[in-house]
Amino acid sequence: MTTLQISSSEPTRKGFLTNYPPFRYWRPEAVERFIEPRPLNLYIHVPYCIQRCAYCFYKVTTLGDNRKAEIDRYVSALCREIEHAARHFHLGDQPVKTIYFGGGTPTVLSKDNLSRIWEVIHQHFQLDEPEITVEAEPVTLIQSKADHLKALGVNRISMGIQSFSDEVVRRTGRVDTEEQALKAIELAKSTGAVVNVDLMSGLAGDTDELWAYSVERAIESDVHSLTVYKTEVYANAGYYNDLKHKSLTLPSDEDELRFTAHAIERFEKAGYLPVNFFTFTKGGGYMQQHATSSWQGRETYGFGVSAFGLLRGHALQNTSELSRYVALVEEGKLPLARGCRLTARDLMTRDLALGMKLIRFDRKEFQRRYGFDVLSLCRPTVEALAADGLVEVTPDALSLTRKGILWGDYVGHRLAAALETAGTSAAPGASCTA
Ligand SMILES: C[S@@+](CC[C@H](N)C(=O)[O-])C[C@H]1O[C@@H](n2cnc3c(N)ncnc32)[C@H](O)[C@@H]1O
Ligand code: SF4
Repeated sequence: MTTLQISSSEPTRKGFLTNYPPFRYWRPEAVERFIEPRPLNLYIHVPYCIQRCAYCFYKVTTLGDNRKAEIDRYVSALCREIEHAARHFHLGDQPVKTIYFGGGTPTVLSKDNLSRIWEVIHQHFQLDEPEITVEAEPVTLIQSKADHLKALGVNRISMGIQSFSDEVVRRTGRVDTEEQALKAIELAKSTGAVVNVDLMSGLAGDTDELWAYSVERAIESDVHSLTVYKTEVYANAGYYNDLKHKSLTLPSDEDELRFTAHAIERFEKAGYLPVNFFTFTKGGGYMQQHATSSWQGRETYGFGVSAFGLLRGHALQNTSELSRYVALVEEGKLPLARGCRLTARDLMTRDLALGMKLIRFDRKEFQRRYGFDVLSLCRPTVEALAADGLVEVTPDALSLTRKGILWGDYVGHRLAAALETAGTSAAPGASCTA
């Protein structure tokens, strides 16, 4: 796209620049696309769990005695926040494509509390046959809860299994057993929902044999989708202190990579194909839309304590303090605590770094969105990654190789750093503004 058609390099005083881009590029189809309402994802955070697992970095509250009143109060705040934000940002005008109940463990909520949240969502949003996902821990998924999820229209259940080895699970502080896990998976499947099982590679006590056992049980469970998370240790996890005090050793990075490589090989043989670098689905179908579309830049509103969202070019997060969250909402305020307005560079970098999670990154779509071939912004980094066997480059796409999949977000991190500095002498870092 060019502006004036200036034929020589001689200065000319003519040619008033009325607009950009020039009108010859304007099309009626653009208006049709513009007036279509923008789709929206909803994320609902439930910060409660049966126990705090030793590896977990999420900010969660355990269910001690007498927590019922506290949870009821949190759910009331959640419902009030949904009403307030929907009105304030006119979210009710946007068709809702996905709803994700994450945590924490959303299935610890009582049927009444789940119904209250559903009611308020139905009142304030236009639901466009949404994908509705609920995260569950096996011990919390009993028959009556499964029946209730089905009645509410939940069409995806993501089960946190982590390992099918009772010994490995016991060392995480969880109370699930293999038997309970398999029962809960069957219950989840019986609701007709698409079922995902989360495994974690690199947990304390895992060995090649125990890991292989877990992978086989996961395949035999015949669920639609299998996810393998690489165990990450953050300062707020029980593992962190134990590692610091040398009372714990974890499988090494090499062990973890070998575990993941084994899982990928067995999953592929069993017909589970990678749809992102950590999720493998039957025949490559049943792709979860919630995370996928948010990695591709679709707007998401996050409700609940510490929930994240992306709306109108802003990344947003609610306060992470539970009592402050409830107090703010009860005072009639939005509980938003921090955010950042993404610059054009941030949007490009976000699209690339998160888009690589989906294994194949569409160069043509990036060019349509931003007007650049992504390679023109980070060719040396892409060439280095290709030389290391981590990515493959075609005229249409940048794709993770098998080795690239194994190394998780490494490629995404490298490409993000390259885009953050492209055309500047600045150190890597987001350029977003207040
Ligand atoms: C919010 S939890 C899922 C539901 C439920 N709370 C449970 O654990 O059964 C989401 C998933 O995050 C993963 N996860 C938690 N802590 C992790 C860590 N430190 N490293 C990698 N994955 C982790 C686990 O696989 C877990 O199933
Ligand atoms: S892994 Fe799941 S159950 Fe365990 S503390 Fe984290 S969110 Fe809660």
